[in-house]
Amino acid sequence: MPHIVVLGAGVIGLSSALRVQAQGHAVTIVARDFPSGSEIIDAQNQINYTSPWGGAHNRLVPPTNAAEDREHGMSVRTFDYMYAIQARYPEAGITLMKGIEYIENPSDAYRSLTEEKARKQLGMLGFKLLSRRDLPQGVNWGCEYDTWCVNPMVYCSFLLRRFAILGGSVLRREVRDPREVFSWDFEAGPVDVLINASGNGFGDENMFITRGQTCLVANPCSVTVTRQNADGSWTFCVPRGFDGGTIIGGTKEPDNWDPNPSIEVRKELLRKFAATYPQILDRNGNFTVMKDVVGRRPTRKGGMRVENETVDGDKRIIHAYGLGGRGYELSWGLADVVAQLLDEHLNGTSAPPYVSESKSKL
Ligand SMILES: Cc1cc2nc3c(=O)[nH]c(=O)nc-3n(C[C@H](O)[C@H](O)[C@H](O)COP(=O)(O)OP(=O)(O)OC[C@H]3O[C@@H](n4cnc5c(N)ncnc54)[C@H](O)[C@@H]3O)c2cc1C
Ligand SMILES: *[C@@H]1O[C@H](CO)[C@@H](O)[C@H](O)[C@H]1NC(C)=O
Ligand SMILES: *[C@@H]1O[C@H](CO)[C@@H](O)[C@H](O)[C@H]1NC(C)=O
Ligand SMILES: *[C@@H]1O[C@H](CO)[C@@H](O)[C@H](O)[C@H]1NC(C)=O
Ligand SMILES: *[C@@H]1O[C@H](CO)[C@@H](O)[C@H](O)[C@H]1NC(C)=O
Ligand SMILES: *[C@@H]1O[C@H](CO)[C@@H](O)[C@H](O)[C@H]1NC(C)=O
Repeated sequence: MPHIVVLGAGVIGLSSALRVQAQGHAVTIVARDFPSGSEIIDAQNQINYTSPWGGAHNRLVPPTNAAEDREHGMSVRTFDYMYAIQARYPEAGITLMKGIEYIENPSDAYRSLTEEKARKQLGMLGFKLLSRRDLPQGVNWGCEYDTWCVNPMVYCSFLLRRFAILGGSVLRREVRDPREVFSWDFEAGPVDVLINASGNGFGDENMFITRGQTCLVANPCSVTVTRQNADGSWTFCVPRGFDGGTIIGGTKEPDNWDPNPSIEVRKELLRKFAATYPQILDRNGNFTVMKDVVGRRPTRKGGMRVENETVDGDKRIIHAYGLGGRGYELSWGLADVVAQLLDEHLNGTSAPPYVSESKSKL
């Protein structure tokens, strides 16, 4: 039986590991950071582990080029998985809800979106354009649709538990170079293929981080709201469910490595969100702040890297990193591609597009 090692236990490593396990392989996850209660994850020491700091919601992004088409396909695929997992495992950390989009200055891609196109071409459920009177002040375009949110660490812990109960092995190690693992002694035997899902990981020169500051509040919210402001800034909330509070965001700051949250930024985020969606405030008109959050989205010039590679003659690697701000949204679509590339690597042939009947084995 081939032995596959997955480097990384963020949402990408975990989804890929489960997906590849469902193909019938022996799988070991090696990582420095693993999911745990978000209350105890160290905001300073584990800042490079992005998955705890995500929202995380799924948003509609109408594609405008081939790369975005591909991402859209992955998001629709992920949507199907999330719905299936939520139905089967209510404890997984997934909550189904409405997503609301508000845009001050909509691009043509949004302006030209009709309900029919959203449903038929983009595969969206429950899509509805909002009429002017339902839009907050300053907003010129709006819609709502069916979507999902996850409580990141509840969800990632669920994935890890599924992986373990289905026979997966787990090893907490920090490596200096992913290729190290090829020389290790594993119980499951030598490493046939390494899946590199190391997020911000190691020195790919196209990688950079996009800092995100958000604020976690205890106020519940029954929808996920995203507002794109005319000045390029974003105002959003992501209800985490499962007693996880609600994320109010957020900044997108390329190459900003500052690990410390700014109180000024927090105030501004809360003020702008309250103006957009006052329903979230408690009966005194307040937020209950739990904590400020700073995360580093693993972003890549030219987009995510999902490809197979053979290094040092015979070491077979499948790269799966650089998901930026969409790691949760695209996770299962990406895992399907990883599974397909793995087939190619193992059989030396080109795989047909993967049809996942193994969803039910999760
Ligand atoms: C503020 C914020 C909001 C976000 N909101 C959303 C959202 O709403 N929806 C969405 O889809 N996404 C969102 N994201 C993005 C999402 O969180 C990321 O895309 C995703 O978490 C990336 O996952 P990953 O598995 O690639 O990386 P990571 O979670 O960083 O995991 C990397 C793994 O590799 C391991 N690793 C790295 N280096 C080493 C090493 N040297 N040795 C051993 N192990 C190593 C780490 O320990 C870890 O296990 C948000 C991100 C931020 C910061
Ligand atoms: C995060 O990654 C950067 C870049 O690799 C590194 O310099 C820094 O020490 C890391 N931070 C922590 C807390 O590990
Ligand atoms: C593995 O992924 C990281 C990104 O996290 C990248 O920098 C690195 O080059 C990859 N490793 C190898 C051996 O290609
Ligand atoms: C909450 O709102 C009330 C009424 O507006 C105000 O007096 C109080 O100071 C607020 N509490 C906090 C913690 O901000
Ligand atoms: C992926 O693997 C297959 C089969 O080994 C090979 O034909 C193909 O060229 C590989 N692709 C890359 C980018 O290495
Ligand atoms: C690779 O081999 C496995 C096991 O024989 C098989 O299930 C799978 O369909 C093959 N994939 C391709 C692309 O040939």
